[in-house]
Amino acid sequence: MSSRSESEHVSYVVQSESLSKRYGDVLAVDNLTFAIEAGTITGFLGPNGAGKSTTLRMLLGLAKPTSGHSTVFGSPYDQLATPALRIGAVLEATDFHPGRSGRDHLRSLGWAVGIPDARVDEVLSLVELQSASKRRVKGYSLGMRQRLGLASALLGNPDLLVLDEPANGLDPEGVRWLRDFLRDFASGGRTVLISSHVLAEIAQTVDQVLIINHGRLVAESTLDELTARVGGVVRVQSPQLDILAELLQREGIVTTRSNDHALFAQGTTKEHVGDVALAAGVAIHELVTEGSSLEEVFLDLTSEGASQ
Ligand SMILES: Nc1ncnc2c1ncn2[C@@H]1O[C@H](COP(=O)(O)OP(=O)(O)OP(=O)(O)O)[C@@H](O)[C@H]1O
Ligand SMILES: [Mg+2]
Repeated sequence: MSSRSESEHVSYVVQSESLSKRYGDVLAVDNLTFAIEAGTITGFLGPNGAGKSTTLRMLLGLAKPTSGHSTVFGSPYDQLATPALRIGAVLEATDFHPGRSGRDHLRSLGWAVGIPDARVDEVLSLVELQSASKRRVKGYSLGMRQRLGLASALLGNPDLLVLDEPANGLDPEGVRWLRDFLRDFASGGRTVLISSHVLAEIAQTVDQVLIINHGRLVAESTLDELTARVGGVVRVQSPQLDILAELLQREGIVTTRSNDHALFAQGTTKEHVGDVALAAGVAIHELVTEGSSLEEVFLDLTSEGASQ
């Protein structure tokens, strides 16, 4: 995603080119250009109202761009021959018939696109909803509804999953389950695009992030790049602080001293500081990352008025 070069033959599963959407006075999506490679999990992040759902709806042919265009597997969504078998999507506010069981809901979806009932049982088991599958959806918890939504997206055994805020309403155990599930899904070369307004919810799941604010792209990078970009502050204690400070400065790292005999290294990682110390045989007594956490970076990038 980040190293996009025309000379490389990278196949992009999703491509968006200057995509914009205006609703009256609101420019919900503003000139978004990005591309997503196969086999990756991409977090699509932004605060409430940033334009995430609108973008996903345009990718899936559910909203018409005001300008720009997007492709999925190289074609505009509505020109794909069998989209239901290639792309599984769960958008916000997915409606279920409340009086129907989860299983019947999936069966009726499956029938519409020629998917056999056996696959319904398979996806119920994939999302671990078998035991509740014959209960009416109206009795489902929010987490169970999220799983049912995911099951419906998996029916066609797709190569791309597009999930709009799937972690909403999940308890920590549910979030962990979703993370493991998506990692497993992507490990075979399949692709996931997952939105959230909470970075922490998906930080351990995603390989890379697209961050939008007021409809505009403010960051497109791997999580590591994002951390490095703002730079953490690493606090280090050592009996040889003077030597360590000099070694770090030679690496181009800015250091400051505190009065409790610790050294602060700016814009680096504790791994880097540790490696530098090890290479010179300098003992480390404490090594902690402080300051800008990923969440702070996210808030910084998406704060009122922030833009690139
Ligand atoms: N159908 C619509 N008609 C008018 N305005 C809309 C419509 N859909 C979205 N908007 C506006 O577009 C902007 C982006 O909304 P969108 O739902 O895409 O944001 P989001 O990032 O998904 O937010 P959230 O985190 O709350 O789900 C908002 O200002 C919203 O009010
Ligand atoms: Mg939304």
